[in-house]
Amino acid sequence: SITRHYKFDIRLQNVTRLCQTKSIATVNGQFPGPRIVAREGDRVVVKVINHVQHNVTLHWHGIRQLQSGWADGPAYVTQCPIQTGQAYVYNFTISGQTGTLFWHAHISWLRATLYGPIIILPKPNASYPFPKPYKEVTMIFGEWWNADPEAVITQALQTGGGPNVSDAYTINGLPGPFYNCSARDTFKLKVKPGGKIYLLRLINAALNDELFFSIANHSLTVVEADAVYVKPFDTDNLVITPGQTTNVLVKTKPHFPSATFLMAARPYFSGLGTFDNSTTAGILEYQKPSYNSSVSINNKQLPLFQPTLPAITDTSVVSNFTNRFRSLATAQFPANVPQSVDKRFFFTVGIGSIPCPQNQTCQGPNGIKLAGYVNNISFVLPTTAILEAHFLGQSKGVYTTDFPTNPPFPFNYTGTPPNNTMVTTGTKAAVLPFNTSVELVMQGTSTLGTENHPLHLHGFNFFVVGQGFGNFDPNKDPPNFNLVDPIERNTVGVPAGGWIAIRFLADNPGAWFMHCHFEAHTSWGLRMVWIVLDGKLPNKKLPPPPSDLPKC
Ligand code: C2O
Repeated sequence: SITRHYKFDIRLQNVTRLCQTKSIATVNGQFPGPRIVAREGDRVVVKVINHVQHNVTLHWHGIRQLQSGWADGPAYVTQCPIQTGQAYVYNFTISGQTGTLFWHAHISWLRATLYGPIIILPKPNASYPFPKPYKEVTMIFGEWWNADPEAVITQALQTGGGPNVSDAYTINGLPGPFYNCSARDTFKLKVKPGGKIYLLRLINAALNDELFFSIANHSLTVVEADAVYVKPFDTDNLVITPGQTTNVLVKTKPHFPSATFLMAARPYFSGLGTFDNSTTAGILEYQKPSYNSSVSINNKQLPLFQPTLPAITDTSVVSNFTNRFRSLATAQFPANVPQSVDKRFFFTVGIGSIPCPQNQTCQGPNGIKLAGYVNNISFVLPTTAILEAHFLGQSKGVYTTDFPTNPPFPFNYTGTPPNNTMVTTGTKAAVLPFNTSVELVMQGTSTLGTENHPLHLHGFNFFVVGQGFGNFDPNKDPPNFNLVDPIERNTVGVPAGGWIAIRFLADNPGAWFMHCHFEAHTSWGLRMVWIVLDGKLPNKKLPPPPSDLPKC
């Protein structure tokens, strides 16, 4: 294994999309940002220098950060932000993970423009547990805002209503031919015929939308998710939540087809309210002049063959798809599912409300201010870092350790919403002794609208041992849990009107954020923190902070 050094200069750059030129925060002037490429076992050292007039942190989404919690990145959880003119070196080792992840800013809404792929290749002499791809291609989905995303979130947080939606979805930063003034900004994937296998590394870095994805006349073989191999399965379309990554194999046609093929993504949306139902698209093009290769639809030149994407509200496609994922669970790639449980948690996750401040007019339903919650607590970020307070034993005034194991009062979570949607605010952490085997059931609620919530856990992969619709039944559901080959991942959609059960081993000391990966919901407080205590052995303790750790 080797050490890979990167220098990330955060600076403004003019970027033009949809005929609008804006100055956006970038890494090294690139949009999307540069790739990090490493092999399993390598050390990665990224020096981040902040040249913009905004505090910044970066997060290495899905990297386990074993004994390196100081490098995880969420602002006010593991570190104070890097201030203008300051630098911080993120230093971590990639262990036990292979596949695709991504990095993104983890403060306010800066991840709208600050994001890029992380590619983890197998160890030097290891190979993939699937046919060797002819080529590997990364496709990172994002969103483009004609407005400044920071202004959008400031407006949403102040008025307590929903944020304005973005103006386009993008593939590798390009909106594609369906948007006005965008035909030239279309991602093109040139492929060779002859049954060649392409590995597509799909990443959903969008802020607020789950996406369906499909390629016309080509089937997708799913082989990996969140940097864990899965039992391969074929599908015509897939769904990917913000924070998830999915690797698929695509086999090219035996001969040159006389056509081009559209690759397209658009949202899956289970909730109510305003949303963008537009489509981002790229083109799969065989490298030979082709005949009849495009058609004109609504004055737009589009490839002859177009995929059929599921209906925007099609929850059954989503649950059928997510139910197909299984770990390899082989001798070489075992699924280390915790077979026994030390501590059980039951969390309600949803959107409720908090009082509208007196001098404000709130734009949520009936003039309320929307608030995300876990067990009725809307999490407020402190003004100094939780991990540092924990390490120094100075939690007073920063956070409390009384995060509830269960919601304060049970109700019919998926039935008629309770009259009172009010939640409380707080900065509470749940404390886990080292090596606690945790079972966590997350129940989606219908407090204010029913929506999927892609929950992301920092510092761990977890096993999705069960999921279902309706209310979780603590007697009937657990006997059906899959403890043999459940999917192992870092982000999972808590289904609209349903629940999900996960297990993980708390073997990584530190302070670990868990939150909805919809940026709007996180900002509203759908987030919490786990604190995992040190183990006894020296290599099972959180090391002291690096000397350049930013100060608040
Ligand atoms: Cu990708 Cu806490 O986030």
